[in-house]
Amino acid sequence: MSITIQSSSFRQFFTQKLLAAAMVSLLTGFIAVAPAYAQEKPMSTTNQQAALPRVLLLATGGTIAGSADNRGSGAYNSGAIGAQQLVSSVAGLGDLASLSAEQIASIGSQDMSDDIWRKLASRIQKAFDQGEADAVVITHGTDTMEETAFFLSLVLKTDKPVVLVGSMRPATALGADGPANIYEAVQVAVDKESKGRGVMVVMNDQIDSARGVTKTHSTSVQTMQSPNLGSEGYVDLGHVRFVKPAAQGQFLKLPEAPLPRVEIIYSHSNMDALQIEHAMADKAKGIVLAGMGDGNTSKAALAALEKAAAQGIVVVRSTRVSKGYVNRNVEVDDSKSGFIASMDLNPQKARVLTQLLIANGVTDPQKVQEAFLNGH
Ligand code: DGL
Repeated sequence: MSITIQSSSFRQFFTQKLLAAAMVSLLTGFIAVAPAYAQEKPMSTTNQQAALPRVLLLATGGTIAGSADNRGSGAYNSGAIGAQQLVSSVAGLGDLASLSAEQIASIGSQDMSDDIWRKLASRIQKAFDQGEADAVVITHGTDTMEETAFFLSLVLKTDKPVVLVGSMRPATALGADGPANIYEAVQVAVDKESKGRGVMVVMNDQIDSARGVTKTHSTSVQTMQSPNLGSEGYVDLGHVRFVKPAAQGQFLKLPEAPLPRVEIIYSHSNMDALQIEHAMADKAKGIVLAGMGDGNTSKAALAALEKAAAQGIVVVRSTRVSKGYVNRNVEVDDSKSGFIASMDLNPQKARVLTQLLIANGVTDPQKVQEAFLNGH
């Protein structure tokens, strides 16, 4: 491109201005585009480590700790990798937090048990009450992650962050999602805005609440979603961003006695009363209906549920449908039948809340319904 200059003095003036402007934009451009590594933080020294937030990582197993085996492509064993190895496999964690790691269990989370729940709850409460940690990260299988997260959100008395994290691919797989998920979970755990948000799940750049999150896909890395309440926020390898104010939670004491038996009955066409009668014979203290649509089921099954409620069994209508609230007194007269509508809670979460309510002596349908509403 050529520039024609009209007179010598103007030419000289204009050339100087042009050169000066070019220098400024070049310099500004360089600073603006200087790659992140040019501003890399110096490695943390012992003093800096000491100043970092203290995060206790509790490992329970799951795919995130899985390793491939020779059964064929995609096959793997859950929980094969230990807590310490998980932490040391993630570069950069030491710049975020001063981490300690403990093994609570080494299971596929389909085998999650009340005993492990108790171990997690007491270990976390102790760590917070005795000032051992500023936050806790739990590595966990995704199959029952939502139930453990919701359970902990109800029984922990703290405003410190607890973050559950898992993965959909084992550590040995192509595109293993575990290391980045652990890194992001620690980022969220130490973020100042995480305080007071209760128990959260962090997976694949997304932050979800314990109440809202559920597993929505059997294999996708984006499986954890909050269909009814929406995500709390988003995280990438440099930022944590919350997009909602912290919701209020509720606290329920975790008694020493074993949690009461609460069955989930899955509704389907041509539904009879047999499963419900078996639950009553099994001395279930609560029955959660995974109903069709807005928590519906057949007349025969409804009659059996009314009988159960009349005997003092807590009956909660939830839905097998993946999204939407189950509302009171729409196609079913909950007030007449003594039923509870699960609102936003899916069957597996409705079961957790029902167990803890019964364990705390809350069985009156009106009181149970208030707890399900939880200020919603
Ligand atoms: N065995 C399942 C579990 O531990 C695998 C699913 C996973 O962890 O992502 O929940």
